[in-house]
Amino acid sequence: MGRPSIGTRKNYRHGRWQTWFLVLAFVASTQTVAAEEGADLNSQRIGGGNPGIGKQQSDAGRCQECHGSDGMSNDERIPNHAGQYAGYLIKQLDNFQAGERKHPTMTIMAEDLTEADKADIAAYFASQKVMEGEPGSDTSAKNLFLNGDSARDLPACVSCHGENGKGRVADNVTYPVLGGQRRVYLRSQLVSWKLGERANSPGGVMNKVAKALTDDEMTALANYLAGL
Ligand code: HEC
Ligand code: HEC
Repeated sequence: MGRPSIGTRKNYRHGRWQTWFLVLAFVASTQTVAAEEGADLNSQRIGGGNPGIGKQQSDAGRCQECHGSDGMSNDERIPNHAGQYAGYLIKQLDNFQAGERKHPTMTIMAEDLTEADKADIAAYFASQKVMEGEPGSDTSAKNLFLNGDSARDLPACVSCHGENGKGRVADNVTYPVLGGQRRVYLRSQLVSWKLGERANSPGGVMNKVAKALTDDEMTALANYLAGL
């Protein structure tokens, strides 16, 4: 990935060529930086687990039966994991194990996973092509997603969940991918946050956000996000 050697420019006799060479060298070096940033983002997404082992473990552990062999679930109530941040998936599994997040099936499914299982399975799903939905007809929540509502002290979803809800990692907090997630699952989580049944977000931030939303807005947000 080294830069082209500047020394080769003495092969060109004319200043014009030297200029062109420098331009090309600059373009090549910025492309290298972009590629490195892409690689960083990818390793941040996948984390320290082994995706190859995670593929076997998620098959043996029956995770793929519900969450899909490629991380795309075939049931609206079951979340996709494709391209979801490993750090987020591991945190949720930790939370199920500790009883900080409750679900009849997932509490049992997470019970016996070791630290290595969690990291490897999360790495496998995170390494799959990032989830994407079919654009829907209901985009009425787009404004709320992009701008929030200062009158209600409601921050914009995009400020945490990133462009098109594709998630990000900042200051050691992992903001999950929401864009392309299952519609019914998204709505159910917003309702759970609002009722306080799910209360595992840092500082209770998602409970605060969801409490400010009406039922119709939760439906519209789920419709919009599922199509991204
Ligand atoms: C019988 C179906 C089923 C199986 C098998 C299953 N899951 Fe799940 N999983 C679910 C459902 C349903 C949810 C949504 C829970 C909720 O509504 O809170 C879920 C949620 C999750 C979440 C939280 C995702 C998010 O976006 O917050 C993770 C992580 C997860 N499952 C991992 C696993 C792993 C790892 C395995 C295998 C060891 C597994 N699941 C097996 C049905 C299943
Ligand atoms: C201040 C930051 C912040 C804002 C603003 C925010 N979120 Fe979140 N959200 C989070 C964090 C952090 C999590 C992960 C919680 C956890 O670790 O369990 C989360 C989780 C979620 C989840 C659960 C995803 C899953 O896979 O289970 C949904 C759904 C969600 N947010 C929707 C929204 C919507 C819709 C908005 C805008 C109305 C919004 N969020 C605004 C920080 C934020």
